[in-house]
Amino acid sequence: MLKIDYTNVMSDIIGERDGILEEEFYEYKHIVQEIHEKIHEEREKSFYFTKLPYQDTTNIKLLANQIRENFDYFVVIGIGGSALGNQMLQDAINGPYYNDFQFPKLYILDNVDPEKFGSILDMIDLRKTVFNVITKSGSTVETIANFSIIYTTLKETLGENYKNHLIFTTDPEKGFLRKFGMQEGITMLDIPPEVGGRFSVLSPVGLLSAAVCGIDIDSLLEGAKNADNLCMQTSNVFENPAYLIGLIHYIACEKKGKSISVMMPYLERLSSFVDWYRQLWAESLGKEGFGQTPLKAIGTIDQHSQIQLFREGPKDKIITFIKVENSLRDFKIPSEIPSDISYLSGHTLKEILDIELLGTRAALTKSKVPNLTITIDQLNPYNLGMLIYIYELATGFTGYLYKINPFDQPAVEEGKNFAYGLMGRKGYEDKLREFKELDKEKYILQVD
Ligand code: PA5
Repeated sequence: MLKIDYTNVMSDIIGERDGILEEEFYEYKHIVQEIHEKIHEEREKSFYFTKLPYQDTTNIKLLANQIRENFDYFVVIGIGGSALGNQMLQDAINGPYYNDFQFPKLYILDNVDPEKFGSILDMIDLRKTVFNVITKSGSTVETIANFSIIYTTLKETLGENYKNHLIFTTDPEKGFLRKFGMQEGITMLDIPPEVGGRFSVLSPVGLLSAAVCGIDIDSLLEGAKNADNLCMQTSNVFENPAYLIGLIHYIACEKKGKSISVMMPYLERLSSFVDWYRQLWAESLGKEGFGQTPLKAIGTIDQHSQIQLFREGPKDKIITFIKVENSLRDFKIPSEIPSDISYLSGHTLKEILDIELLGTRAALTKSKVPNLTITIDQLNPYNLGMLIYIYELATGFTGYLYKINPFDQPAVEEGKNFAYGLMGRKGYEDKLREFKELDKEKYILQVD
């Protein structure tokens, strides 16, 4: 079950300056219908991620079972869309403390931060580790740099057996990693060519590490399938959760000046879901002067950190609360507590969490800050699959409302090109020259 309560984004609740009039939704009826048809046409192309729920997972599950039987550590080497979804699935379903109690332990090596790299190496035993190198392009600097060191270390430590400790997840044909994997005879999984990094969590990119850690990936895909059936059926924003989320955020941003989209779950297992959402929303929509800045907040922690700003700061935010009705565990406040704090007695922690959400939401609504609440009954693979699918489709849909391409990331490339120039990569000499023109140290304050 998933429910979207958008009462507090409506103008009859928070006023016309900040809220949306019902008629405003209808103004977009034809545009939404056109986009809906385009999405159907592009299901084999840019919107191929909508077909991922229907894939056959037999091989992934077989491979995952072999890993579970023979290894204690599983390290994902990847970054951006080739890492954030893995962490999100793991934290949402298994919780952030899974590694303290369970095997195989999952580590995500994304950054080229030598201290992080070293810490992960300190925690694992190479002989009991599988490294899953994930890169769609097959050539991302961070991934290839981390992999290169692991590759050499594995060979030095394990000799020819090193191959059993590597799995590559990459484009079926293109890129360095595919070529290298074929030469070396490494086990490989395909990322469908049509699916871009940040839309790939429900492909082998996210599914293998999830299955290795015991997550029911079929149930995850079942939830996504359910959302797909619903969303592909109707262009009516009042019935289609992805279009509703997309259109609300688009109108809030373009017509009401809400240039920041805060996502605030009230369950810490969803913290990495927000990290995943940030990349999806930012990298897909931040183009040609458009876009909405995604911001992370966690209930109740950020009530004691950012809510002051959300209520009384600039009126530039729309907030999405995520509420999970049933937590896996709960704890009751005892009745034998000092009378000064007796108002807590009898309540459970989950009740307090829910009450704090209600209080914060009412306070924000009072300050006319538009907010919506997504409620799921449980944080299980099925509901997570629905949520992932809905946010991916909402992102693609919103990109088409902005009339931009939500599936590319041209602005990311330039920084990479300068880095290639600086590292002395052949063919990037011009970029090194351009870098030297741009990189000036003119105004400096140094404190010793
Ligand atoms: O969404 C995207 O396409 C990017 O964020 C990529 O996921 C990221 O740059 C990593 O790319 P790759 O999977 O090619 O290594």
